[in-house]
Amino acid sequence: MKGIILAGGLGTRLYPATHSISKQLLPIYDKPMIYYPLCTLLLAGISDILIITTPHEQPLFQRLLQDGSQFGIHLSYTIQTHPEGIAQAFLLSEAFIQHSSVCLVLGDNIVYGDGLSQKLQEAAKQTSGATIFGYAVSDPTRYGIIYFDKTNHPSHIIEKPTDSLSNYAVIGLYFYDYHVVDIAKQLQPSARGELEITDINNYYLGVNQLRVEKLGRGIAWLDMGTHQSMLEAANFIHVLEQRQGLKIGSPEEIAWRMGLISSEQLEKLATLQCKNSYGEYLLNLITS
Ligand code: G1P
Repeated sequence: MKGIILAGGLGTRLYPATHSISKQLLPIYDKPMIYYPLCTLLLAGISDILIITTPHEQPLFQRLLQDGSQFGIHLSYTIQTHPEGIAQAFLLSEAFIQHSSVCLVLGDNIVYGDGLSQKLQEAAKQTSGATIFGYAVSDPTRYGIIYFDKTNHPSHIIEKPTDSLSNYAVIGLYFYDYHVVDIAKQLQPSARGELEITDINNYYLGVNQLRVEKLGRGIAWLDMGTHQSMLEAANFIHVLEQRQGLKIGSPEEIAWRMGLISSEQLEKLATLQCKNSYGEYLLNLITS
C-alpha cells in the first residue's frame, strides 16, 4: 500500500495567493500541519509516500520533510499546477501508484484516537475495493455526506448537501485499490469545477466495492479548513499534550516506536531541535 498526502488544492490558501504560504506548512500548536496526516499514514504502516504540493512551495515541503529517510520512510514529491479537485491527485500520481493500492490523506486533516492504528492497518491490508470512514458532524453541509438505507447500508454520498438528513461526513482519508486511477480518468468536473472524490466513492458504492467504517465518539477528526478550525485544532492538541505529557502527530516518535528508526537516529533528530520542548520530548523518550 502506497500513500499520498494532498497538500495543494484550493483550500491551501489562507492569504492572498501572491503572498501566501500553504497552510500545511504552518504550525498547529507545536508542529507543522502536514505532520498530522503524515503520522496517519505512518500509523497505517505506509512508508512509501507521495506529497502533492503547489509548484512554488514544493521546495519548502522538501526542505521540511526531505526524502523521509530520517523517519525511515521514502518520500517523493509532485506538483499540482492547477487545483482541480481532490480526485485529481490520482491523475497526478499514476506513475507512483502503478499496480499498488493506495491511501490518500488530505493535508489538513487530523484523525486521532485510541484504537485508530488498528483500524488504519486493517484498511491498509485491502487489495480490492475501497474503504472510507464516516464521522458524525454538527455541520453536514460542509462535507461529503453518507446516506444510509433502512438496513443501515450506505445508499449514496452527496457532496455538501443542502439538507441534513444524515450527519455522517466522509473524512479526508481514503483507501482504494489501483483501479482508482482509471476511475479518476473518467470523471467530469462538478458544478464547482472540481474532480470530486465523492464521485469516486459513489462509483465504488455503485459496484458494491465500498466499505464504510463509522468512527465512534472516541475518535477525534478535525479538518483544518478554516482559520477557526486551525485554532480549534491547535487548542485540542495543546490540551491533550499538556495533560498527558504525550505528543500527538510526532513522526519522529512514531517512526521510533514502529522500529523504522533506531534510538541513535531518534537522538540525532532530537538534537537538531534540543533547544525547544519538542526536541526535549524526543530526547526524553530515549532516556526514560
Ligand atoms: C473535501 C471533500 C469532502 C470531504 C472533506 C473532508 O471537502 O470534497 O467530501 O468530506 O474534504 O475534509 P473540501 O475540502 O473540498 O471542502
